Amino acid sequence: MSRAPSTQSRHLLEVKDLRTHFFTRNGVAKAVDGVSFSLDRGQTLGLVGESGSGKTVTLMSIVRLIPKPAGRIVSGEVLLEGRDLLKLSDRDMREVRGAEISVVTQDPMTSLNPLYTIGNQMEEPLRYHQHIRSHSELRSHVLDALKKVGIPVPERRMKSYPHQLSGGQRQRIVTAMAIECQPSLLIADEPTTALDVTVQIQILRLLREVQKEMNLGMIVVTHDLAVVARVCDVVAVMYAGRIVEKAPIVEMFEKPSHPYTQALMKAVEGERDATGRLYTIEGQPPDVRRLSPGCPFAPRCPKVMDICRGEYPPVASLSSQHTVSCWAAMKENGIEHIGLAPGVAS
Ligand SMILES: Nc1ncnc2c1ncn2[C@@H]1O[C@H](COP(=O)(O)OP(=O)(O)O)[C@@H](O)[C@H]1O
Ligand SMILES: [Mg+2]
Repeated sequence: MSRAPSTQSRHLLEVKDLRTHFFTRNGVAKAVDGVSFSLDRGQTLGLVGESGSGKTVTLMSIVRLIPKPAGRIVSGEVLLEGRDLLKLSDRDMREVRGAEISVVTQDPMTSLNPLYTIGNQMEEPLRYHQHIRSHSELRSHVLDALKKVGIPVPERRMKSYPHQLSGGQRQRIVTAMAIECQPSLLIADEPTTALDVTVQIQILRLLREVQKEMNLGMIVVTHDLAVVARVCDVVAVMYAGRIVEKAPIVEMFEKPSHPYTQALMKAVEGERDATGRLYTIEGQPPDVRRLSPGCPFAPRCPKVMDICRGEYPPVASLSSQHTVSCWAAMKENGIEHIGLAPGVAS
């Protein structure tokens, strides 16, 4: 018998067996295919994996901004404080976005309007989401948010236009906009424009400070494990639309168990190519429109066994918070094939 929701230890966010597919002329792209994880307040989860592994589609599914009609969330649950966002009306979902969940861009110029003062554009979400009308109240909320992100003389900054600010200040403004409506969850996808890793880490650290102070949950998406190492508590490694390994940051770095995670680790250890970009793994990620039944990493895997080509590995627990989906890792850790379904929540 299931217990009443109020007596359960409830996570801020719980994603259960999420599947988001794109129905294209060239076949069905299973961009996200059985993703499960949970996130608590005060916690930062890093989603890592090569380009095309389904990180952005996972985030966009949570906020239900999947491009239609090709993209569709075909199954799963996205529980925010126990409420399934996939069941909300479009109107209710618009309220959730921006108010309860903030999507933070790491490219400040794309989210600031050059024609309006900082004060004007910061008041807009407060009017829309919090229905605040009084000028003095709007002003005090804006000032409060600006103070939280460490903007000096915020009264003066409210009257500035974006071009009058330095890059660092603009990023603080964008962060202030992300938190002004008091969301419970912050989502930061990696910048699409080339952004120095050091700058990216600075931006994420600022977000993390604010997130810790306000006790929010945060999801950070990046292809770079070095970035997660600096800002996350828990890491989930994605490959071909699924989470293949998940662990608290220290445990992940001490005992990476999936051969794909182990390969990503080499990047963190500093191997770089001629252009200075971090080491990349040989071979290509699979085309998610043509996945075979086995483990999609098998063709690139140094530890591949026969079973890997035939059957997708189940989610195995290596410790209370460390899971992996890999036949070789199971064998190395003496775990029997106990028939857990892939994508089972942990
Ligand atoms: N608009 C789209 N139309 C069709 N397929 C898409 C679309 N967006 C994403 N996909 C598919 O989903 C996969 C995962 O994309 P994405 O989540 O953006 O990867 P990343 O991990 O780099 O963020 C892509 O490789 C592609 O096959
Ligand atoms: Mg992406």
